[in-house]
Amino acid sequence: MSKTAILEFDGNKYEFPVIVGSENEAAIDIDKLRALTGAITLDPGYKNSGSCKSEITFLDGEEGILRYRGYAIEDLAEKAGFLEVSYLVIFGELPTQEQLVQFENDIRKYTLVNEEMKNIIDGFPKTAHPMGVLSSLTSALTAFNPKVVNVENEKEMYEAVCKTMGKFLVIATWTYRKMMGFPLNYYDNTKGYVENFLHLMFELPTGPYKVNPVVVDALDKLFILHADHEQNCSTSTVRIVGSSHAGLFASISAGVSALWGPLHGGANQAVLEMLEAIQKDGGDAEKYLAKAKDKDDPFRLMGFGHRVYKNFDPRAKIIKKAADEVLNTLGVDDPILDIAKKLEASALVDDYFVSRKLYPNVDFYSGIIYRALGIPTEMFTVMFAIGRLPGWIAQWKEMRINKEPIGRPRQIYTGYPLRDFKPMNQR
Ligand code: CMC
Repeated sequence: MSKTAILEFDGNKYEFPVIVGSENEAAIDIDKLRALTGAITLDPGYKNSGSCKSEITFLDGEEGILRYRGYAIEDLAEKAGFLEVSYLVIFGELPTQEQLVQFENDIRKYTLVNEEMKNIIDGFPKTAHPMGVLSSLTSALTAFNPKVVNVENEKEMYEAVCKTMGKFLVIATWTYRKMMGFPLNYYDNTKGYVENFLHLMFELPTGPYKVNPVVVDALDKLFILHADHEQNCSTSTVRIVGSSHAGLFASISAGVSALWGPLHGGANQAVLEMLEAIQKDGGDAEKYLAKAKDKDDPFRLMGFGHRVYKNFDPRAKIIKKAADEVLNTLGVDDPILDIAKKLEASALVDDYFVSRKLYPNVDFYSGIIYRALGIPTEMFTVMFAIGRLPGWIAQWKEMRINKEPIGRPRQIYTGYPLRDFKPMNQR
């Protein structure tokens, strides 16, 4: 028998259906709440509100579980490649070898970005943050690709996916080239997707760039770990912007802006800056833990805590192990890794962090790997965006295919009641 929930309000009883997910999470379906009772729910930050049903990602924050389309993140990070996982996230099944080759080839058809985009990037100062430039360039892609995708048409949707995957990678790396004053580079269709990222970023006209396979492998893993994370801030942004039937590029551009904030994807840059500051200040981890605990100090331990995980972020576990491996393989001895480990060890036995269930999140160790791979700090959140792209695409596509209504929350108005207009001479 299906479950229901009873609400008593203003002396009346109402019954609401309960929706149970495939992993037994329950939701009280309040679709008819306002129509029946005249009241709404209030849930700032949406801590208790589901915005949709989704088949893409399963996350259990209490148990520290993350799965894309039913596959454990640990398996995917170890056994699959980024494009393979992107295909899985976007289309729902792991690709066959043939489908994967086709996908990669189809992305290659769209890797040339319109030359006029260069005029737009020229207008930015070199000092502009790459995430701001990326959001603007993604939005600008709409001007060069104005055709509205018919989501019902599988072929059109597939082309839009390939186009977005191809062009976004190129413009993401252009933000770095701009910052460095390097000439903008072109995608090389003879190379792989992740390899191309390195080529686009680092190859200069003055000489060939030799790709290190260790770096490609590490990046592949990092991108996979970031590929989707259900209804987080940027993904919800992409879905809500798309719910007005704004296009894919416009929606993703909004997602990039949402990701930029230091409480979300911007935390990876903030973590590294924090670790560098601790190092400069003598390496005293305890001093910074005390600052993070002090309610009069706005400082937070960046890379710690998560809205959903009240246990280890499974991504952080994988990244911590990978950080050790990558640094060892590359022969990099980074004292910042030791500071990070010291901070983590102290926080994990500190009552403040234990009682609030604050554990390292995905951003805590990722920056250390990026740094070892030669990625500059300002680009860390762009790396997150490249990894998250398949998730944004998949969620946008799902929202449109499910014909979700326009996202439009309500509010409780707490301002003045009706007032008489005061003429200027009486104010
Ligand atoms: N350092 C110190 N105290 C913290 C931290 C932290 N990093 N995170 C949470 N708290 C405290 C917070 O002050 C509050 O304490 P109290 O109950 O005494 O008021 C309690 O823990 C609960 O925090 P909250 O802010 O209500 O929790 P939230 O779910 O709204 O916020 C968060 C989650 C990720 C924004 C927050 O933990 C945070 O700011 N972390 C640092 C930034 C960060 O690393 N962000 C990356 C998130 S993972 C990547 C991604 O998906 O974006």
